[in-house]
Amino acid sequence: MIRASPRPNGFSNRVTDHFLQVLNTTQPGVRITEWRLHDKLAIPEFGQDVINGKMAEGGQADALPGEHAAWSQALDVIREFKEADAYVVAAPMWNFGIPAKLKNLVDVLSHSGHTFENDESGESRGLLLGKRALLVCARAGAYPADSQSDFQLPYLRKVFGVMGVEDQWAVAVESTWKGQSSEVEPMREAAAVAQEWCLASPLRQRGLISPQHVSLPGSALAIQASPRACTRAPPPRSVLVIRASPRPDGFSNRVTDHFLQVLNTTQPGVRITEWRLHDKLAIPEFGQDVINGKMAEGGQADALPGEHAAWSQALDVIREFKEADAYVVAAPMWNFGIPAKLKNLVDVLSHSGHTFENDESGESRGLLLGKRALLVCARAGAYPADSQSDFQLPYLRKVFGVMGVEDQWAVAVESTWKGPSSEVEPMREAAAVAQEWCAPSSALSHA
Ligand SMILES: Cc1cc2nc3c(=O)[nH]c(=O)nc-3n(C[C@H](O)[C@H](O)[C@H](O)COP(=O)(O)O)c2cc1C
Repeated sequence: MIRASPRPNGFSNRVTDHFLQVLNTTQPGVRITEWRLHDKLAIPEFGQDVINGKMAEGGQADALPGEHAAWSQALDVIREFKEADAYVVAAPMWNFGIPAKLKNLVDVLSHSGHTFENDESGESRGLLLGKRALLVCARAGAYPADSQSDFQLPYLRKVFGVMGVEDQWAVAVESTWKGQSSEVEPMREAAAVAQEWCLASPLRQRGLISPQHVSLPGSALAIQASPRACTRAPPPRSVLVIRASPRPDGFSNRVTDHFLQVLNTTQPGVRITEWRLHDKLAIPEFGQDVINGKMAEGGQADALPGEHAAWSQALDVIREFKEADAYVVAAPMWNFGIPAKLKNLVDVLSHSGHTFENDESGESRGLLLGKRALLVCARAGAYPADSQSDFQLPYLRKVFGVMGVEDQWAVAVESTWKGPSSEVEPMREAAAVAQEWCAPSSALSHA
């Protein structure tokens, strides 16, 4: 059981509890292990430490003691994960995707040679064959199977599929804003899945890990502005750069450096603020503390001093974010999505009344109007615009769009496994965007 909601009584947890109860009754003795991701658990933060520790093991580099320890901790997590016959993931939807803690776990688990492998032709093959997963996805809205806004269930399907877990079951708990009525049918479905699991082929000895309180082909599409007609904003006076790759020399950072250099030359005096998400930065971990602190401010509940502090820290981040005229996000693709640190920032920033608001009919309206964003997305593969495997660029477009940042530009750095040749065209495109941004304001219709 992998529980990614911090709310013991949340919908994903309650439906999962019911599933387990039926499973236990139908097949007593099944061993259930719970990982509650929001409690203290020995799961390392995925970042350069883990990567360096892994590379040192492979003899490709030296590593510091802390880096060896981080990789060894990741290996322990992978080992325990692989011991299970089946998985239950209880996941809340947060800002159209999964919580950062769950994304971090995906990055800790997804390693070639451990949960999948690449054959000689570079094709990936999952290693967790014969296992199954139940994905319990709770969300306040309702998302049909072909929704362009659901980055939760399709993403979990994708990453379990890559690991070879193809026997996938899903229970969506939808419209949870309606309260308990929304869980009636999912409860029934979860019970039916439990019974199916026990019928089809009895689970072997070990049971579940369950929720613990469980291309753009280079040039042609690489620069995409919002399809809407809009008035070109005046050149930005301040730009916030959000760097989500821990590699200073990584592709997203290098292309972003080039963009900034051209911007600075074309428009000297533009104020540039940098957030390097993998360095120590005063961004709180989004979780129950921040939520409780926010609710206390709204008078809906009491909060502990630490919870007030967490929300006040989130407010500082939001304030600084809103001060910028424009954003540049330098993002590596990790396991088809964005790094957990960037997802955490999305959750810290996305609050009604701050970056968007809901009108009386419940419609959401972005509040950051007149701003723009450049999304620099680096990935080893190549993902066409209609790819079902790209949860990086479409996701960033979605969350900036929700905040009202509709003047969006993107540069995809693709096929980075080829080395420096992959950045030649993106460098040119980034320079072109910088020059476009500095052009005098005028009516502009993005085609
Ligand atoms: C943990 C991890 C997971 C990755 N997953 C993917 C992936 O799913 N698809 C892909 O095309 N590239 C993947 N890559 C490759 C990176 O996207 C690629 O190296 C990219 O250049 C990283 O951006 P950066 O150079 O700015 O750090 C992964 C790399 C790492 C370290």
